[in-house]
Amino acid sequence: MQQAEGSVAQGGAADLRSRIDALGPWFHNLDLNGVQTAPDHFLGDYPRAKFASFADALPADLAGGSVLDIGCNAGFYSVEMKRRGAGRVVGIDSDDRYLAQARLATEVLGFKDVEFRNLSVYDVGALGEKFDLVIFMGVLYHLRHPLLALDLIREHVAGDRMLFQTMQQGSPDIADVPENHPFFEPGSFRKPAYFSEPGYPKMHFIERKYADDWTNWWAPNRAGSAAMLRAAGFEIESNPEEEVFLCRVAPIPYHHLAGTMAVYPAKTPAKGDVA
Ligand SMILES: C[S@@+](CC[C@H](N)C(=O)[O-])C[C@H]1O[C@@H](n2cnc3c(N)ncnc32)[C@H](O)[C@@H]1O
Repeated sequence: MQQAEGSVAQGGAADLRSRIDALGPWFHNLDLNGVQTAPDHFLGDYPRAKFASFADALPADLAGGSVLDIGCNAGFYSVEMKRRGAGRVVGIDSDDRYLAQARLATEVLGFKDVEFRNLSVYDVGALGEKFDLVIFMGVLYHLRHPLLALDLIREHVAGDRMLFQTMQQGSPDIADVPENHPFFEPGSFRKPAYFSEPGYPKMHFIERKYADDWTNWWAPNRAGSAAMLRAAGFEIESNPEEEVFLCRVAPIPYHHLAGTMAVYPAKTPAKGDVA
């Protein structure tokens, strides 16, 4: 039986504070029944304040549906989906410390049936199941192979909807893009101008660190996010804030010509670090 929300597990607030601190630092500021995990977060009350700006775009009642939270971190979205009546919820992340945070949070909040696994987004095929809702928030820009991640999600785990967010840079405009781009502007040898338009789909590549973090590799503009989602076979149902997209599974463009879009590089046994 699940422990009711509102009580502090095992030994009261002081004990909980020390368990929280032992797993720090936290990226998610969670309210664990009155004890906050990251009260001094540089983004404020994060991600609660962000979620408040688009929460209404999601169904209020998930009616027992299944959820996969990719890059779940300390489990904020997993917990929120349980609060909305989700049934099976699986959170995956590639960082064991964040997974330990998520396990502590769900234990304290009484959602012990959420399953957390150390699994990379590149390995979602190993789950062997599709979910009614995939949450893919705040991960894309950390990946060296972002479109591959979307292709793998679409192929293996997206059953119906996906809630997506990425850090974005550049213009929020969305330019009209032609079905087919001519090599030159008609009647000239000039390169077409679309690519210089602020609202043309773009991915900015960040060679060095962004906000002190070397894992921030990419920053699409808003049109770029939307175009990549469509290209991976997601129809955009709503875009409740600039960088958040609620999508539905849709036919994959050019699938009939390319077959599967994802690729599966062969793994070779590790022989030590590459210098
Ligand atoms: C910026 S946090 C976003 C956390 C949460 N999804 C949110 O939106 O608040 C990025 C998370 O993605 C995880 N992550 C990074 N690369 C990953 C990968 N290849 N597979 C799964 N998770 C990954 C990190 O460990 C981290 O927890």
